Amino acid sequence: MAIFTGMSKHLGGTDQVVLPRPVFYGLVQKNVLVTGAYGQLGCALKSVSERVNLPFRFFFTDVDSLDITDIDQVDDYVTRYHIQYIVNGAAYTAVDKAEAESERAFAVNEGAVRNLALVAREHAVRLIHLSTDFVFDGRSDVPYTEAMIPGPLSVYGASKLKGEEALQAVGGDWIILRTAWLFSEFGSNFVKTMIRLMGERESLAVVNDQTGSPTYAVDLAEMILYILQRAEEEQTWKTGLYHFSNVGAVTWFDFARSIRRLAGLTGCELLPISSEEYGGAAVRPAYSVLDHAKVRAAFNVVIPTWEDALERCIQAIKRCGK
Ligand SMILES: NC(=O)c1ccc[n+]([C@@H]2O[C@H](COP(=O)([O-])OP(=O)(O)OC[C@H]3O[C@@H](n4cnc5c(N)ncnc54)[C@H](OP(=O)(O)O)[C@@H]3O)[C@@H](O)[C@H]2O)c1
Repeated sequence: MAIFTGMSKHLGGTDQVVLPRPVFYGLVQKNVLVTGAYGQLGCALKSVSERVNLPFRFFFTDVDSLDITDIDQVDDYVTRYHIQYIVNGAAYTAVDKAEAESERAFAVNEGAVRNLALVAREHAVRLIHLSTDFVFDGRSDVPYTEAMIPGPLSVYGASKLKGEEALQAVGGDWIILRTAWLFSEFGSNFVKTMIRLMGERESLAVVNDQTGSPTYAVDLAEMILYILQRAEEEQTWKTGLYHFSNVGAVTWFDFARSIRRLAGLTGCELLPISSEEYGGAAVRPAYSVLDHAKVRAAFNVVIPTWEDALERCIQAIKRCGK
């Protein structure tokens, strides 16, 4: 299953159509800056953008080519390459490490986001920024809507919330997509770690008291590219905060069980443990399922389930031999 009609076969998915594919005749190519391009989302954006014909020229950067904590670098880059859209995939994402490195976490997740927002506003550039389910305290027992009050439990969550607030305070044409539990064939993530460890060990303990919405970075990348396409085709921009994850809710333990089944690694025993038993410096929300009504209504999308997404991801991992 893939987000755009006609993309499914390129992505190796099923024929189910999730989003209508916009038609764009004679549109002038626009320049899109992607930050954090070596990250999981950055790699997914690169992969999807190379497989489909889009009216954009992408400039993929990471901290070695563009450090977004330096506003002059950001301003120079946007000016030099005539950037019209920015997708901010860069972030400080080491959730446990952030507890001891809060200055660095806030510099990237708040300060640098303010830099991007200021430069974007100055140059009339549209900015898509990513945030996280970890802005919530996890006490809800229904999926979190965008209207619900955040209450981060960790330095990472607090720094990401400050980034959202900084962006909204600066204004301009922005979209914030809060997402959750990213996995993919790229970089390092829970699915790849589980597959590796299940191949090495006879048993594995996995946390069973945190419930969330796993999100395939490829589906998130498609959503982002679809927003850009719609903006070009319809000449509209729907500024706002949106929640995007794959559909459904699961604990890490049950997610691991699905990974084990789909990867065919049934020899490894899985043991459910509590967050306390697992340890970890940062406190994570016990429940952080995201509600999608707003993003569905605004962009007319049907979002794949996490089970469907996991199946496609594991197929991709097997194809890559990673
Ligand atoms: N991963 C998840 O489960 C998850 C869940 C919810 C939300 N999100 C959000 O989704 C977005 C993408 O996450 P991801 O998992 O793709 O992140 P990621 O894999 O950690 O990638 C982030 C990239 O940003 C780079 N970066 C760090 N500081 C930078 C700077 N000053 N200038 C430029 N680049 C810099 C990182 O480089 P280094 O590696 O060298 O630091 C890394 O390559 C983030 O906003 C994240 O908060 C992620």
